Amino acid sequence: MASMSKELPLPYPDGWAAVAFGSDLGAGKVIRARFMDEDVVLFRTRGGAAQAVTPYCPHLGAHLGYGGRVVGERLVCPFHGFAFDRTGVCVATGYGKRPPRARLGTWETTETNGLVFVWYSAQGLPPQWDVPPALLESFPYAMQCSRLLATHPQDTVENGIDLGHFRYIHGLTGVEEIESFSSDGHRARYVLAGAKGFLPGLLLRMEISTRLWGLGLNVVDTYFPQFGITLRSLVTRTATGPHQVQLRARVGVRPDAGGKSFPPASRRFRSLAALLTAAARPAFTSQLALDVPVWAHKSYIPHPPLAQGDGPITLYRRWARQFYSAAQPVGAAAVERKSSRDQ
Ligand code: FES
Ligand SMILES: [Fe+2]
Repeated sequence: MASMSKELPLPYPDGWAAVAFGSDLGAGKVIRARFMDEDVVLFRTRGGAAQAVTPYCPHLGAHLGYGGRVVGERLVCPFHGFAFDRTGVCVATGYGKRPPRARLGTWETTETNGLVFVWYSAQGLPPQWDVPPALLESFPYAMQCSRLLATHPQDTVENGIDLGHFRYIHGLTGVEEIESFSSDGHRARYVLAGAKGFLPGLLLRMEISTRLWGLGLNVVDTYFPQFGITLRSLVTRTATGPHQVQLRARVGVRPDAGGKSFPPASRRFRSLAALLTAAARPAFTSQLALDVPVWAHKSYIPHPPLAQGDGPITLYRRWARQFYSAAQPVGAAAVERKSSRDQ
């Protein structure tokens, strides 16, 4: 699918990128993920810590994602039993001999909001910000879904600020900016309003507020004032290849914006939240499905001839530029990163 699509001339963005749902990585498990056209191996120690590492054992090159196993706090290679701690240091061999001075490449890893993230900087900088914790705290029944898309993270994030497409793709009316796009370093936010006709005579109004942390994570709160319901979508976008994005979302519903009429602990709150969350999945995936064919086949217009009503696409793109610290094409950035990690 991806190879048939038009490659966007955008590098891989810096930032935190989700590589797995936390629930995919049970204690003592080893799994593989894709990030920037390479494998990433993830393991969870018996103590519960998640760690992402580069796939190849520095001893004789076995792929740790095929047969690697966790023993205590270590990852053990399937080939000769060399063991690595979470910092990548080789701490034992399979023969009980003194381990060589070998180091397995590691990714800066953090786990929060039910997702495991790794940090990427084209220039090799350490994490420049933290992933905010507890974003779904008052949305206790969040469901999760993921989908592989033929696109680039910047393009899918741009979708949320592309006011015109909400009308033509998603069938919304009266789309307007309530709070214009503003940014503060790696963060940005904006609020839109619109309405969607569902059944004859029912125009569902909604207020959509979006917060972004880089291009890898955003939180979209859709508030339905007629019902006092907020739908929260925590969406991560991970470039798994030059024109491929693994989107992971956790979506929850909270009855009443302030939680006043439904104390979160009440049974009424819990049953309503569970019911609405179950309904949120088809709503979320059906809206996403409308964008998918456009993303898969579109090209990237660097200087688009924007019209009034398009929304602050230019502002957004200017903000997004900061995440391309090395400003290299995709292939070159990957090579550069590899060599800097191998040093
Ligand atoms: S290749 Fe991993 S221990 Fe030899
Ligand atoms: Fe869309």
